[in-house]
Amino acid sequence: MKATAIAPANIAFIKYWGKKDDDLRLPLNSSFSMNLSGAVTRTTVEFSPDYCKDTVELVGETFSTKEQERVAKSLDAIRTVAQISEHARVVTKNTFPKGAGAAASASGFAALTVAAFAAAGVAVAEKEMTVFARLGSGSACRSIPDGFVLWEEGNSSDSSFAYSLYPHTYWDIRDLLVIVDSGMKKVATSDGMKTIMTSPRFSRRLSAVGGRLTRMNIAMKEKNFAAFGAITEEDCLDMHTVMQSQVPPLMYWNDMTRVVMDAVVAWRNEGLPVYFTIDAGPNIHVLCEPYSQAIILKKLNMLTGVQTVIINTPAPGTQISEDHLF
Ligand code: DP6
Repeated sequence: MKATAIAPANIAFIKYWGKKDDDLRLPLNSSFSMNLSGAVTRTTVEFSPDYCKDTVELVGETFSTKEQERVAKSLDAIRTVAQISEHARVVTKNTFPKGAGAAASASGFAALTVAAFAAAGVAVAEKEMTVFARLGSGSACRSIPDGFVLWEEGNSSDSSFAYSLYPHTYWDIRDLLVIVDSGMKKVATSDGMKTIMTSPRFSRRLSAVGGRLTRMNIAMKEKNFAAFGAITEEDCLDMHTVMQSQVPPLMYWNDMTRVVMDAVVAWRNEGLPVYFTIDAGPNIHVLCEPYSQAIILKKLNMLTGVQTVIINTPAPGTQISEDHLF
Protein backbone atom coordinates (compact mmCIF):
# COMPACT_ATOMS: atom_id res chain seq x y z
CA MET A 1 0.00 0.00 0.00
CA LYS A 2 2.73 2.40 -1.03
CA ALA A 3 2.76 4.73 -4.04
CA THR A 4 4.60 7.81 -5.27
CA ALA A 5 3.43 10.66 -7.49
CA ILE A 6 5.25 13.58 -9.08
CA ALA A 7 3.25 16.78 -9.55
CA PRO A 8 4.20 20.05 -11.19
CA ALA A 9 3.43 23.45 -9.69
CA ASN A 10 1.34 25.59 -11.99
CA ILE A 11 1.22 29.27 -12.82
CA ALA A 12 -2.18 30.84 -13.38
CA PHE A 13 -2.48 33.29 -16.28
CA ILE A 14 -6.08 34.01 -15.23
CA LYS A 15 -5.98 33.80 -11.45
CA TYR A 16 -8.05 32.33 -8.67
CA TRP A 17 -8.53 34.78 -5.81
CA GLY A 18 -11.54 34.38 -3.55
CA LYS A 19 -13.94 31.58 -2.70
CA LYS A 20 -17.71 31.33 -2.74
CA ASP A 21 -17.48 28.31 -0.41
CA ASP A 22 -14.55 28.08 2.01
CA ASP A 23 -14.99 24.45 3.04
CA LEU A 24 -15.43 23.12 -0.48
CA ARG A 25 -12.90 25.59 -1.90
CA LEU A 26 -15.28 26.66 -4.62
CA PRO A 27 -13.67 29.64 -6.37
CA LEU A 28 -15.40 32.90 -7.24
CA ASN A 29 -14.17 32.57 -10.83
CA SER A 30 -12.77 30.05 -13.29
CA SER A 31 -8.99 30.18 -13.79
CA PHE A 32 -6.43 29.11 -16.39
CA SER A 33 -2.86 27.91 -15.86
CA MET A 34 0.22 26.16 -17.19
CA ASN A 35 2.08 23.35 -15.43
CA LEU A 36 5.72 24.12 -14.65
CA SER A 37 8.48 21.63 -15.53
CA GLY A 38 11.05 23.04 -13.08
CA ALA A 39 8.95 23.33 -9.92
CA VAL A 40 7.95 19.84 -8.95
CA THR A 41 6.86 17.92 -5.82
CA ARG A 42 7.49 14.21 -5.32
CA THR A 43 5.35 12.53 -2.65
CA THR A 44 5.32 8.96 -1.34
CA VAL A 45 2.32 7.74 0.66
CA GLU A 46 2.12 4.44 2.50
CA PHE A 47 -0.93 3.21 4.39
CA SER A 48 -0.10 0.55 6.96
CA PRO A 49 -1.63 -0.97 10.12
CA ASP A 50 1.85 -0.47 11.64
CA TYR A 51 1.33 3.30 11.81
CA CYS A 52 -0.62 4.55 14.84
CA LYS A 53 -1.09 8.06 13.41
CA ASP A 54 -0.58 9.97 10.17
CA THR A 55 2.88 11.48 9.81
CA VAL A 56 3.96 14.01 7.21
CA GLU A 57 7.57 14.86 6.51
CA LEU A 58 8.79 17.51 4.10
CA VAL A 59 12.41 16.68 3.22
CA GLY A 60 14.72 19.55 4.18
CA GLU A 61 11.93 21.80 5.46
CA THR A 62 9.28 21.89 8.17
CA PHE A 63 5.52 21.58 8.21
CA SER A 64 3.36 23.63 10.59
CA THR A 65 0.64 21.91 12.65
CA LYS A 66 -1.94 23.68 10.49
CA GLU A 67 -0.41 22.18 7.34
CA GLN A 68 -0.23 18.72 8.95
CA GLU A 69 -3.95 18.98 9.75
CA ARG A 70 -4.74 19.99 6.18
CA VAL A 71 -2.92 16.88 4.90
CA ALA A 72 -4.70 14.66 7.44
CA LYS A 73 -8.05 16.06 6.24
CA SER A 74 -7.22 15.09 2.64
CA LEU A 75 -6.12 11.63 3.77
CA ASP A 76 -9.40 11.20 5.68
CA ALA A 77 -11.44 12.03 2.57
CA ILE A 78 -9.42 9.50 0.54
CA ARG A 79 -9.71 6.83 3.27
CA THR A 80 -13.48 7.27 3.26
CA VAL A 81 -13.68 6.66 -0.49
CA ALA A 82 -11.22 3.76 -0.33
CA GLN A 83 -12.99 2.31 2.73
CA ILE A 84 -9.74 1.80 4.60
CA SER A 85 -8.78 2.89 8.10
CA GLU A 86 -4.97 2.53 8.12
CA HIS A 87 -2.89 5.57 9.00
CA ALA A 88 -0.37 6.90 6.51
CA ARG A 89 3.26 7.88 6.37
CA VAL A 90 3.73 10.72 3.90
CA VAL A 91 7.14 11.92 2.75
CA THR A 92 7.34 14.79 0.31
CA LYS A 93 10.11 16.67 -1.44
CA ASN A 94 10.04 19.90 -3.47
CA THR A 95 12.52 21.05 -6.10
CA PHE A 96 11.78 24.67 -5.17
CA PRO A 97 11.32 26.82 -2.03
CA LYS A 98 8.05 26.17 -0.21
CA GLY A 99 5.71 29.10 0.37
CA ALA A 100 7.59 31.41 -1.94
CA GLY A 101 4.71 32.03 -4.31
CA ALA A 102 5.83 29.08 -6.41
CA ALA A 103 2.57 27.30 -5.61
CA ALA A 104 3.99 24.55 -3.41
CA SER A 105 0.50 23.85 -2.08
CA ALA A 106 -0.71 23.17 -5.63
CA SER A 107 1.95 20.59 -6.50
CA GLY A 108 1.89 19.31 -2.91
CA PHE A 109 -1.83 18.49 -2.79
CA ALA A 110 -1.85 17.21 -6.39
CA ALA A 111 0.99 14.77 -5.62
CA LEU A 112 -0.58 13.79 -2.28
CA THR A 113 -3.99 13.08 -3.83
CA VAL A 114 -2.67 10.97 -6.71
CA ALA A 115 -0.17 9.06 -4.53
CA ALA A 116 -2.72 8.43 -1.76
CA PHE A 117 -5.39 7.06 -4.11
CA ALA A 118 -2.79 4.81 -5.77
CA ALA A 119 -1.50 3.64 -2.37
CA ALA A 120 -5.07 2.88 -1.30
CA GLY A 121 -5.52 0.87 -4.50
CA VAL A 122 -8.44 2.94 -5.78
CA ALA A 123 -8.64 3.89 -9.46
CA VAL A 124 -10.06 7.38 -9.84
CA ALA A 125 -10.85 9.21 -13.09
CA GLU A 126 -8.91 12.42 -13.73
CA LYS A 127 -11.95 14.67 -13.26
CA GLU A 128 -12.71 13.21 -9.84
CA MET A 129 -9.03 13.36 -8.92
CA THR A 130 -9.03 17.11 -9.61
CA VAL A 131 -12.05 17.52 -7.31
CA PHE A 132 -10.21 15.75 -4.46
CA ALA A 133 -7.03 17.75 -5.04
CA ARG A 134 -9.11 20.97 -4.99
CA LEU A 135 -10.42 20.14 -1.52
CA GLY A 136 -6.79 20.21 -0.27
CA SER A 137 -5.83 23.43 -2.05
CA GLY A 138 -7.84 25.08 -4.79
CA SER A 139 -5.04 25.56 -7.30
CA ALA A 140 -3.92 21.92 -6.81
CA CYS A 141 -6.70 20.76 -9.15
CA ARG A 142 -4.91 22.53 -11.99
CA SER A 143 -1.69 20.51 -11.42
CA ILE A 144 -3.34 17.19 -12.28
CA PRO A 145 -4.28 17.47 -16.01
CA ASP A 146 -1.71 17.89 -18.78
CA GLY A 147 -0.20 21.21 -19.88
CA PHE A 148 -2.56 24.17 -20.15
CA VAL A 149 -5.45 23.72 -17.75
CA LEU A 150 -8.83 25.32 -17.14
CA TRP A 151 -10.46 25.09 -13.70
CA GLU A 152 -14.22 25.53 -14.11
CA GLU A 153 -15.50 27.42 -11.07
CA GLY A 154 -18.69 25.30 -10.91
CA ASN A 155 -21.41 25.73 -8.31
CA SER A 156 -21.02 22.46 -6.41
CA SER A 157 -18.12 20.21 -5.48
CA ASP A 158 -18.63 17.90 -8.46
CA SER A 159 -18.95 20.71 -10.98
CA SER A 160 -15.78 22.52 -9.84
CA PHE A 161 -13.06 20.56 -11.61
CA ALA A 162 -10.07 21.05 -13.91
CA TYR A 163 -9.24 19.74 -17.36
CA SER A 164 -6.58 20.14 -20.01
CA LEU A 165 -7.39 22.72 -22.68
CA TYR A 166 -4.14 22.00 -24.54
CA PRO A 167 -1.41 19.42 -23.93
CA HIS A 168 2.02 20.61 -22.73
CA THR A 169 3.39 20.07 -26.25
CA TYR A 170 0.94 22.58 -27.72
CA TRP A 171 2.93 25.81 -27.28
CA ASP A 172 6.44 26.22 -25.92
CA ILE A 173 5.93 29.19 -23.62
CA ARG A 174 8.84 29.72 -21.22
CA ASP A 175 8.28 30.72 -17.62
CA LEU A 176 11.42 32.05 -15.93
CA LEU A 177 10.57 31.99 -12.24
CA VAL A 178 12.69 34.70 -10.67
CA ILE A 179 13.32 34.04 -6.99
CA VAL A 180 13.99 37.27 -5.11
CA ASP A 181 13.00 35.93 -1.69
CA SER A 182 12.86 32.24 -0.77
CA GLY A 183 11.23 32.72 2.67
CA MET A 184 7.63 31.88 3.54
CA LYS A 185 4.94 34.24 2.29
CA LYS A 186 3.58 36.66 4.89
CA VAL A 187 -0.11 35.82 4.61
CA ALA A 188 -1.20 32.36 3.44
CA THR A 189 -3.51 32.43 0.43
CA SER A 190 -6.37 30.73 2.29
CA ASP A 191 -6.27 33.50 4.93
CA GLY A 192 -5.74 36.29 2.42
CA MET A 193 -8.78 35.28 0.38
CA LYS A 194 -11.07 35.42 3.42
CA THR A 195 -11.20 39.22 3.38
CA ILE A 196 -11.63 39.67 -0.38
CA MET A 197 -15.08 41.23 0.16
CA THR A 198 -13.42 44.16 1.96
CA SER A 199 -11.89 45.31 -1.32
CA PRO A 200 -13.97 47.86 -3.25
CA ARG A 201 -12.27 46.47 -6.39
CA PHE A 202 -13.28 42.81 -6.08
CA SER A 203 -16.66 42.97 -7.83
CA ARG A 204 -15.10 44.87 -10.72
CA ARG A 205 -12.50 42.12 -11.19
CA LEU A 206 -15.19 39.46 -11.08
CA SER A 207 -17.19 41.14 -13.81
CA ALA A 208 -14.04 41.51 -15.95
CA VAL A 209 -12.64 38.00 -15.56
CA GLY A 210 -15.15 36.19 -17.83
CA GLY A 211 -14.32 38.43 -20.79
CA ARG A 212 -10.64 38.04 -20.04
CA LEU A 213 -10.97 34.24 -20.17
CA THR A 214 -12.66 34.51 -23.56
CA ARG A 215 -9.86 36.74 -24.87
CA MET A 216 -7.29 34.33 -23.41
CA ASN A 217 -8.94 31.45 -25.25
CA ILE A 218 -8.58 33.30 -28.54
CA ALA A 219 -4.93 34.20 -27.81
CA MET A 220 -4.19 30.55 -26.98
CA LYS A 221 -5.94 29.31 -30.11
CA GLU A 222 -4.02 31.73 -32.31
CA LYS A 223 -0.77 31.30 -30.33
CA ASN A 224 -0.67 35.09 -30.19
CA PHE A 225 2.08 35.70 -27.63
CA ALA A 226 1.59 39.49 -27.39
CA ALA A 227 -2.13 39.09 -26.67
CA PHE A 228 -1.48 36.19 -24.28
CA GLY A 229 1.13 38.22 -22.36
CA ALA A 230 -0.99 41.37 -22.20
CA ILE A 231 -4.04 39.51 -20.84
CA THR A 232 -1.87 37.67 -18.31
CA GLU A 233 -0.34 40.91 -17.00
CA GLU A 234 -3.76 42.57 -16.93
CA ASP A 235 -5.21 39.83 -14.74
CA CYS A 236 -2.16 39.70 -12.47
CA LEU A 237 -2.28 43.45 -11.85
CA ASP A 238 -6.05 43.33 -11.37
CA MET A 239 -5.70 40.57 -8.74
CA HIS A 240 -2.96 42.50 -6.92
CA THR A 241 -5.12 45.65 -7.01
CA VAL A 242 -7.80 43.65 -5.22
CA MET A 243 -5.26 42.23 -2.73
CA GLN A 244 -3.71 45.63 -2.03
CA SER A 245 -7.11 47.25 -1.48
CA GLN A 246 -8.34 44.59 0.95
CA VAL A 247 -8.61 45.49 4.63
CA PRO A 248 -5.99 44.91 5.94
CA PRO A 249 -4.06 45.35 2.67
CA LEU A 250 -2.10 42.41 1.31
CA MET A 251 1.20 43.59 -0.08
CA TYR A 252 2.95 40.55 -1.50
CA TRP A 253 5.59 42.43 -3.55
CA ASN A 254 8.92 43.65 -2.26
CA ASP A 255 11.36 46.19 -3.74
CA MET A 256 12.94 43.53 -5.96
CA THR A 257 9.54 42.52 -7.33
CA ARG A 258 9.10 46.11 -8.51
CA VAL A 259 12.60 46.19 -9.98
CA VAL A 260 11.93 43.06 -12.08
CA MET A 261 8.46 44.29 -13.12
CA ASP A 262 9.90 47.62 -14.28
CA ALA A 263 12.76 45.85 -16.09
CA VAL A 264 10.33 43.58 -17.96
CA VAL A 265 8.29 46.60 -19.09
CA ALA A 266 11.48 48.44 -20.16
CA TRP A 267 12.74 45.42 -22.15
CA ARG A 268 9.36 45.17 -23.81
CA ASN A 269 9.47 48.84 -24.74
CA GLU A 270 12.83 48.12 -26.37
CA GLY A 271 11.14 45.49 -28.56
CA LEU A 272 11.52 42.20 -26.61
CA PRO A 273 8.24 40.26 -26.28
CA VAL A 274 8.34 39.59 -22.51
CA TYR A 275 5.64 39.74 -19.83
CA PHE A 276 5.29 39.01 -16.11
CA THR A 277 2.87 37.51 -13.65
CA ILE A 278 3.02 37.28 -9.86
CA ASP A 279 1.15 35.10 -7.33
CA ALA A 280 0.79 35.60 -3.58
CA GLY A 281 4.47 36.27 -2.93
CA PRO A 282 7.35 38.47 -4.04
CA ASN A 283 8.76 36.17 -6.72
CA ILE A 284 8.04 36.92 -10.37
CA HIS A 285 7.27 34.70 -13.32
CA VAL A 286 8.79 36.19 -16.46
CA LEU A 287 7.16 34.86 -19.62
CA CYS A 288 8.84 34.66 -23.00
CA GLU A 289 9.26 32.49 -26.08
CA PRO A 290 12.17 30.05 -26.56
CA TYR A 291 14.14 32.28 -28.94
CA SER A 292 14.43 35.11 -26.40
CA GLN A 293 15.03 32.98 -23.29
CA ALA A 294 18.85 33.26 -23.30
CA ILE A 295 18.92 37.03 -23.65
CA ILE A 296 16.23 37.56 -20.99
CA LEU A 297 17.95 35.15 -18.61
CA LYS A 298 21.19 37.07 -19.04
CA LYS A 299 19.43 40.36 -18.34
CA LEU A 300 17.68 38.92 -15.26
CA ASN A 301 20.93 37.56 -13.84
CA MET A 302 22.47 41.01 -14.15
CA LEU A 303 19.87 42.52 -11.79
CA THR A 304 21.25 42.77 -8.24
CA GLY A 305 18.93 40.95 -5.83
CA VAL A 306 17.91 38.12 -8.14
CA GLN A 307 18.73 34.94 -6.18
CA THR A 308 17.96 32.23 -8.74
CA VAL A 309 15.94 31.76 -11.88
CA ILE A 310 14.03 28.52 -12.32
CA ILE A 311 13.49 27.78 -16.02
CA ASN A 312 10.13 26.19 -16.79
CA THR A 313 8.63 24.77 -19.96
CA PRO A 314 4.99 23.60 -20.12
CA ALA A 315 4.77 20.28 -18.28
CA PRO A 316 2.53 17.21 -18.17
CA GLY A 317 0.21 16.78 -15.22
CA THR A 318 0.68 14.59 -12.17
CA GLN A 319 2.26 11.20 -12.84
CA ILE A 320 2.79 8.01 -10.88
CA SER A 321 6.46 7.15 -10.27
CA GLU A 322 8.20 4.01 -9.08
CA ASP A 323 10.94 6.05 -7.44
CA HIS A 324 9.76 6.10 -3.80
CA LEU A 325 11.14 8.47 -1.17
CA PHE A 326 11.30 5.72 1.50
C1 DP6 B 1 -2.60 33.79 -5.99
O1 DP6 B 1 -4.76 27.47 -4.25
O2 DP6 B 1 -3.07 28.43 -2.67
O3 DP6 B 1 -1.72 31.64 -6.53
O4 DP6 B 1 -7.38 27.11 -2.13
O5 DP6 B 1 -6.80 28.51 -0.18
O6 DP6 B 1 -5.26 26.67 -0.89
P1 DP6 B 1 -6.27 27.72 -1.31
O7 DP6 B 1 -5.51 28.75 -2.23
P2 DP6 B 1 -4.39 28.54 -3.32
O8 DP6 B 1 -4.46 29.97 -4.08
C2 DP6 B 1 -3.71 30.32 -5.18
C3 DP6 B 1 -3.85 31.77 -5.42
C4 DP6 B 1 -2.92 32.36 -6.44
C5 DP6 B 1 -3.59 32.45 -7.80
C6 DP6 B 1 -3.74 31.16 -8.57
O9 DP6 B 1 -2.86 30.28 -8.50
O10 DP6 B 1 -4.74 31.04 -9.28
